Amino acid sequence: MRPVVALTGGSGGIGRAAAAAFARSGFAVLIAGRDAAALAQAEAEAARAAAGAPGAPAPALATLAADLAAPGGASAVVDTAVRRFGRLDVLVSGAAVTGPLRRPLWEVTDDAWQAVLDANLTAAWRTAAAALRHAIAAGTPLRLVQVSSGIARGAVAGLGPYGVSKWALEGLSAALAADAERAPVAVTVVTVRPPSVRSAMTRAWLPEAEAARLPGPEIVAPALLEAAIAPRERVHGRVLRVAPDGAIEMLG
Ligand SMILES: NC(=O)c1ccc[n+]([C@@H]2O[C@H](COP(=O)([O-])OP(=O)(O)OC[C@H]3O[C@@H](n4cnc5c(N)ncnc54)[C@H](OP(=O)(O)O)[C@@H]3O)[C@@H](O)[C@H]2O)c1
Repeated sequence: MRPVVALTGGSGGIGRAAAAAFARSGFAVLIAGRDAAALAQAEAEAARAAAGAPGAPAPALATLAADLAAPGGASAVVDTAVRRFGRLDVLVSGAAVTGPLRRPLWEVTDDAWQAVLDANLTAAWRTAAAALRHAIAAGTPLRLVQVSSGIARGAVAGLGPYGVSKWALEGLSAALAADAERAPVAVTVVTVRPPSVRSAMTRAWLPEAEAARLPGPEIVAPALLEAAIAPRERVHGRVLRVAPDGAIEMLG
């Protein structure tokens, strides 16, 4: 039976490339995002990628347009994966926004701060919690892959809320890994830290020429796949840091 992955942020640069890589590797893929047109493109790309694999069966793909910052979005991801594919093995939490750009923290409004934490942290917790409740009820193992950033454990001036959200996301990974030890099913938690890559996010933040020189988002996909399929004892509770050349370093 095919393994099933749900990807949040699947309509964005990194998520889209990951959806294609997971489909090519034989996963059934739920691609979640908000923008219906971008989701349709991501699904078409994943279908092409899967069809290119030698001896590949027909790809199993679905999309979900849902705002994960709103209540109900997280459970919709899990419910849709289970309804379409019968199970959920891997959740990749990649949805995020950069929030206010080039603003020092003392100029950030309450609403802007909250919007970043809602999308980048609370949504990841809610989605992981919904997936865990399902896995425990179904008695099936679950792998949680959290997409962090090199900004975690560092700081970039003018990107305060985003940076804080990624530090907190790595805290969420650690807390989930600790709680996983008490779960009645095998839960594996892995964090992936991509380098800067070309995407809507970096195009909004960097000067155009600099953004264009970045590596493509597809260089992150092998680390996401590795996080999803490597033996639990090798990756549980660890951080996979991806270098700009795609090399993967295991931390922790
Ligand atoms: N690009 C980089 O250089 C870089 C570096 C390190 C880490 N990362 C991380 O990698 C992940 C993907 O980034 P990216 O570069 O691919 O960014 P992107 O192209 O801007 O994609 C962001 C994704 O998040 C989704 N999203 C945002 N808010 C959402 C919400 N409230 N509900 C549902 N979906 C929401 C977007 O959906 P819609 O577009 O459909 O609204 C989109 O699919 C993020 O976690 C980011 O922090 C990126």
